[in-house]
Amino acid sequence: MSGPGLKNATIAAGAVMVLSVVALAVDYAVMRGWTPASDAQIAALQEKVQRDAKLAPVLAAEQKRIAEFNRARRARVNWLSLVLVGAAAGFLGGAKRLLAGQARPPVRVPERGPSAVWPRAGRAVAAQAAAAAPEIDLTFVDGLIEKEGRGAEAAIPILQAIQAHYRYLPDEALRRVCHLTEISPAQIAGTSSFYSRFRRSPVGEHIVRVCHGTACHVAGARQITDELRRELAIAEGEDTDPSRTFTVEEVACLGCCSLAPVLMVDEHTAGKLTPATACDALAAVQPGERA
Ligand code: FES
Repeated sequence: MSGPGLKNATIAAGAVMVLSVVALAVDYAVMRGWTPASDAQIAALQEKVQRDAKLAPVLAAEQKRIAEFNRARRARVNWLSLVLVGAAAGFLGGAKRLLAGQARPPVRVPERGPSAVWPRAGRAVAAQAAAAAPEIDLTFVDGLIEKEGRGAEAAIPILQAIQAHYRYLPDEALRRVCHLTEISPAQIAGTSSFYSRFRRSPVGEHIVRVCHGTACHVAGARQITDELRRELAIAEGEDTDPSRTFTVEEVACLGCCSLAPVLMVDEHTAGKLTPATACDALAAVQPGERA
């Protein structure tokens, strides 16, 4: 992902990460001095109690205070550790996306208005979409906006619902959202590129997930993917064939490594594949054409 939103979020995550580390280090340093002192204090009180039993309530109160302090400290450290892990994950994820984004041309944020052209992954997709995109029924978007509201905070639920309904984010639907709400094209561009589950191009009727986990990688997953893409005539930089029948994705371990290399066509699994047999697996959903 690229864009100022991601950059700012990555910097913020990095700052939170550093602050969490500093807070944990300070806490550790303070406790290194405090623990022996409190232990000595308790030991001294215990000695006094042995000589004077009337001091027993004082000892009990002190022990209770120290126990509560330790409990609060443990909770604070747990909380800081969680923040640190979350911030580190956000920082690393953001940095990775920023670095990856440098290799791609920058996303052009369109002007707001009816003539706006939304950024696409490439010209091939735009041409493909123009040639074969089905009519988009925008009444769904209108109803969705009525339900979710028109404020900028509704951006993610609205995009999620549009993605679920159309299986990608059609330009027409996004333009409609910007026209009817306070959500800006820049906000949509930033949000939709930040979350990988949002697709900006149409998805095929069937999803082919080729496992590229370690076992499948070693067993030839790359050749399987290449053969499928060649057979389906999927253009460079795209993941869907021109007829929008199949979308080919590379995924992590599918959990059946003994069958490597493995792919799934929708819910059907096929294993022990070779480049020669990989395309036969598509017959699970299109038996008439690919048996
Ligand atoms: S690595 Fe492919 S199924 Fe596990």
